[in-house]
Amino acid sequence: MSYVKQVFDKVDVHQLLQEYGSPLYVYDEEILRERCRELKNLIKYPQFRVNYSAKANTNVELLKIIHEEGLDVDAMSPGEMYLEMKAGFTSDRMMFIGNNVSRDELQYAVDRGIYVSVDSLSQLATLGEVNRGGQVCLRINPGIGAGHHEKVVTGGKKAKFGIAIEDLHKAQEIAAIYNMTITGLNQHIGSLFLETEAYIAAAAQLLQVAATLPSIQVVDFGGGMGIPYRHETEPRLDLQKLGQELNELVENWVNEHWPITVRIEPGRYIVAESGAVLGTVTAVKHNYNTNFVGCDIGFQTLIRPAMYDSYHAVSVAPAKNRDYQEYEQPVYLVGPICESGDILAHDRVLPVCQEGDGVILHDAGAYGFAMASTYNSRPLPAEVLIQKDGKVRLIRKGQSLKDLWPVE
Ligand code: LLP
Repeated sequence: MSYVKQVFDKVDVHQLLQEYGSPLYVYDEEILRERCRELKNLIKYPQFRVNYSAKANTNVELLKIIHEEGLDVDAMSPGEMYLEMKAGFTSDRMMFIGNNVSRDELQYAVDRGIYVSVDSLSQLATLGEVNRGGQVCLRINPGIGAGHHEKVVTGGKKAKFGIAIEDLHKAQEIAAIYNMTITGLNQHIGSLFLETEAYIAAAAQLLQVAATLPSIQVVDFGGGMGIPYRHETEPRLDLQKLGQELNELVENWVNEHWPITVRIEPGRYIVAESGAVLGTVTAVKHNYNTNFVGCDIGFQTLIRPAMYDSYHAVSVAPAKNRDYQEYEQPVYLVGPICESGDILAHDRVLPVCQEGDGVILHDAGAYGFAMASTYNSRPLPAEVLIQKDGKVRLIRKGQSLKDLWPVE
């Protein structure tokens, strides 16, 4: 069953917009739980943990569900660690994967007993000062990258992340100065893969590196598992294939070497499909042969199309007081932001829209609200959850105009 049917058969778009305001983020608990379970069962190897990469979405009510499903979490900042702890995660289920973070931020994690991954020799030395005698995970840059856009390729020789494999011996020297033990290796080659080859190749390489460091107890292969944003044409990521290939790699390695815990760090796969943004058509026009459908969702609400040219499926929920027209036409779906790049979809064939129609941007649960802003001084939208029992619950209040100037 398609996502559109699954979620929007359950709720009335117009009623939600009326009750909670427009635009609005909506999440579906059932889909979120399903995605958690799929990845939890990815491989048979028993010492396997899924670290949800919370940067994709840190709504505490969603984090609580992910916690209940038994996943662990990653954090990129004290803010993420704070929200994760609010959701009930304890330090043994958290990991701080910093990139150019401050000494205070490292201290925040160390004070709470949270395992830290550092991704440069310089940060390793800073952590050494903060956590002398402690354990550390090293983020490796495997020199291999992958991703849906150059801005999300995080491995590779020009990416800002990770320690080059050739510098590992220097990392060992620095760790020794501070009496730290390198107990983990992690990497993340990039975001959104639908084919498994690059991920598996990088995983195999990381295991080879692990074999040279007898103190290693944890190997984390990273996230990046993609979802088919183009519902009609893109196949789903073949989790069975990925799971089998990964399992084989790990079991062979463990047979030859020693037992380790293996982890993956998915963000998008867990939350993307459970979320959508709802909005309202505010204006329509035909200018110089182009049809524009203007709505109240802009790149302040969902930046992915403007930032990465990302595709999000769009559906239209016609206003109640008019007949739905099957007739379709190619349009530019655009937002209210005063920039010409405020385009949600271009040349998209949609049913003819009118003011007051509802629009739904699908698969917006990951890097949607998390990257939303108040640009053009537009308050952040509310978030609601469609619970398993079908009831809708507010899980974050929308901002008011007053929230735009919080010092008063
Ligand atoms: N681990 C690390 C160290 C990461 O940097 C990331 C994402 C992940 C895990 C999770 O990756 P995922 O499974 O979600 O692909 N804003 C972009 C995506 C940026 C991803 C950054 N790092 C987007 O909207 O496509």
